[in-house]
Amino acid sequence: MTGPAVSFYDQHPGESSLRDEVLGGLARTPKAIPPKFFYDQRGSRLFDAICDLPEYYLTRVETGILQDCVRELAASIDSRCMLVELGSGASRKVRLLLSALKPTHYMGVDISKDFLLESSRRLARDYPWLDVHATCADFSSKLTLPESLPSVRKMAFFPGSSIGNFDPVQAGRFLKQIARMVGSGGYLLIGVDLKKDIDRLNAAYNDARGLTAAFNLNLLLRIRDELDSQIDPDGFEHLAFYNEAAGRIEMHLRSIKDQVVRIEDHRFRFEADETIHTENSYKYTVEEFAELGLSAGFNSDRVWTDAERLFSVHLMCVA
Ligand code: AVI
Repeated sequence: MTGPAVSFYDQHPGESSLRDEVLGGLARTPKAIPPKFFYDQRGSRLFDAICDLPEYYLTRVETGILQDCVRELAASIDSRCMLVELGSGASRKVRLLLSALKPTHYMGVDISKDFLLESSRRLARDYPWLDVHATCADFSSKLTLPESLPSVRKMAFFPGSSIGNFDPVQAGRFLKQIARMVGSGGYLLIGVDLKKDIDRLNAAYNDARGLTAAFNLNLLLRIRDELDSQIDPDGFEHLAFYNEAAGRIEMHLRSIKDQVVRIEDHRFRFEADETIHTENSYKYTVEEFAELGLSAGFNSDRVWTDAERLFSVHLMCVA
């Protein structure tokens, strides 16, 4: 396939398999399957639809904050820099930054090679003045950039409160890796969902149209369709609630009856109400997140929030 010039680097990320992680996760007590398996084609489409839901304020509010802060950002950051987008699916948001900051270089980092190439070629076509690079890597396990890059200041961009899907210890480790990657004088612009009224949080993960339920239950459809298994997806229901003590939304798949799920020659017994834990989405106060950044080597430069203080965008700098 040809297209606009993109400098491509492949770190050949090892794909962890649905089979291995489901077998391991269902053998554990309590049962758990990591959220990365939500995102097959159907799951990614559902997630895009979730982002447009009235209850799921995160995307809408973050985009609004970015729209409001880009001019200020552009005034404080030299345009001779490389914008490094971690998980280059969020192209609507990155386009806001590209148009306002006019960085000389862009680097997309994503685990999905086809998706990454497609989205970076689109950027190269739409921003002809931009030097576009792309790295295929699993940035959640190892974050390094190719050595041959132009030596300009780097600004990492990690929107969507995806940091909330790590627990705080993993999040701290991940921020340290970003600090090392952008180096001294480098920046991180990161979107972080805020602690707030519990009803509002619960509604965001229990939408009236049932899209979040479908997104969660899609995991069972994948097990049914992609593995040698016997599983009744209708025997489970979506469960999402805010765990106040832990400061996180938890998503689970709850068995509505006593049942047995077979995968290959493994049999997993479920009691009624037993759950598979599928996702955590941690929420922070502005101060808690600034503190986490500080312990990872970042000074907090600026924090923007919306008028209702639903969501925050932090600009952090490595001293
Ligand atoms: C991708 N991530 C930040 C979303 C979240 O809010 O934790 C995934 C999601 N889960 C349910 N709805 C959206």
